[in-house]
Amino acid sequence: MTQELTSPSPAPQAPGTGRGPGWWRDAVIYQVYVRSFADSDGDGIGDLRGARERLPYLKDLGVDAVWLTPFYASPQADGGYDVADYRAVDPLFGTLQDADELIRTAHDLGLRVIVDIVPNHTSDRHPWFQDPELARQRYLFRPGKGESGELPPNDWESVFGGPAWTRTDRGDWYLHLFAPEQPDLNWDNPEVHAEFEAIMRFWLDLGVDGFRVDVAHGMIKAPGLPDIGHGAQAQLIGAQVLPFFDQDGVHAIHRAWRRLLDGYGDAHGKQVIGVAEAWAPTAERLALYVRPDELHQAFNFQFLNAPWQSDALRSVIDASLAATASVGAPTTWVLSNHDVVRHTTRLGGSLARARAATLLMLALPGSAYLYQGEELGLPEVTDLPDEVRQDPAFFRGGRATGAVGPGTDTESAPDGVAAGGQDGFRDGCRVPLPWSGELPPYGFGPGGSWLPQPADWGGLTVAAQTGDPASTLELYRAALELRRRLPGLGDGPMSWAPAPDGVLALTRPGLLCTVNTLGHDVGLPAPGTPLLSSAPVTVDDATAQLPGDSCTWWAI
Ligand code: BGC
Repeated sequence: MTQELTSPSPAPQAPGTGRGPGWWRDAVIYQVYVRSFADSDGDGIGDLRGARERLPYLKDLGVDAVWLTPFYASPQADGGYDVADYRAVDPLFGTLQDADELIRTAHDLGLRVIVDIVPNHTSDRHPWFQDPELARQRYLFRPGKGESGELPPNDWESVFGGPAWTRTDRGDWYLHLFAPEQPDLNWDNPEVHAEFEAIMRFWLDLGVDGFRVDVAHGMIKAPGLPDIGHGAQAQLIGAQVLPFFDQDGVHAIHRAWRRLLDGYGDAHGKQVIGVAEAWAPTAERLALYVRPDELHQAFNFQFLNAPWQSDALRSVIDASLAATASVGAPTTWVLSNHDVVRHTTRLGGSLARARAATLLMLALPGSAYLYQGEELGLPEVTDLPDEVRQDPAFFRGGRATGAVGPGTDTESAPDGVAAGGQDGFRDGCRVPLPWSGELPPYGFGPGGSWLPQPADWGGLTVAAQTGDPASTLELYRAALELRRRLPGLGDGPMSWAPAPDGVLALTRPGLLCTVNTLGHDVGLPAPGTPLLSSAPVTVDDATAQLPGDSCTWWAI
């Protein structure tokens, strides 16, 4: 049965306001995990100058924007998601001038820049937390339970493992949904709201085009901070509304930020966006974050977590499109990021599946996020020695990640690779990029690299893959080039076409995309002329042979 799915029409251009159809509606946004992208000074840690020098590579790759993970002043207890000063650049990554130059260079190249903002918590080294009086008002302190307050105020667990509360020398407790070095802010305090609005304006004035809002589902906690009543809470994230995640109250904050972003954009003749890193139990609840007066995009982790199986993929695509269409927002697709197992490894350790999944993602209506290194087909590094690991969850005995919910395709994961990464941790997807050469650090920088790179990455470098039409890098370049050139891709309508079991066929204006999720060839009447394929496709006597685990774009 053919089903018509229509993605919502863009809002009309409002003259003189800088609002228009919305550049984000079909943008391809590339995530730069700054410490692992490119190192300019030889300390083995990627930095802003390194990233700026590599921007032409991203322009040439064909993306529309970059998202930079936190580079702010931070003790680095959680890879910079523990911010001590939201207006300063950590010396590890450079200076404010480096940030300014990066933004200008990106704009000169026609690339937009999104930066992270971390509003759920700060670092414990933040001046607010360091001042006992201010801390009491701006964070969540509570007396303990038990005869002498020796027990935590409730049963909440940290996402990184262990209790979500730490007791102070003064005897009371503070809440930290992540590491103890990341105390949760008190969003009942108007000063917290005012400060984050001021921080946003600071970065907007420096020219950024938007914010990726970290833990956008976390700022508001249920009144009275009620117990949950059972353990293993990390498994519930994204599966149900929790007293600390996906509370309805967070939407008022996003509405205020949308007013700020629109107001700023109108005043400056540009469109600045907010993208929610939000974990919600259903596509419908996730869509609430992208209602017309809230943020512009939300990461679609339901798609990321879908198994490599045609029915499952189809239903998650349908649910995602229907939910976002109901609020007039575009859908946002993502397969990899700095918190999850790289999709090459997650999808059964199969580069063929990863390439096919990417072509599928880029054929879907809406916007797509790429994570650095996926364009090289990098696998997760699964044999990092314990002494080099830095993920705070590893040291707290937690299972996984910043906010990774359940449902990862563990069944097709290779042995020993748990949902959250190596043993459930996140360093394995953060290994610095290989740019060139046969030996580590593969052109990452003039020194070493903060996590060891595998000895066999010489064939995966940017230099090794450039110009090789069979390489994953050239597949990404070709797909992004077609996406820019073919008006039917990006935002717009999509419908399903009939296909054999195990195969998906979806049509966009002028294009048909087939995905064979089975491990063997499938023959079908050639639907058109092949434009691009993740694996060599043959057409004989009007019959196409779709290779196992492949995706093909056909001109129709
Ligand atoms: C980020 C993680 C981080 C966590 C706490 C997440 O959503 O993506 O990397 O550990 O937030 O800030």
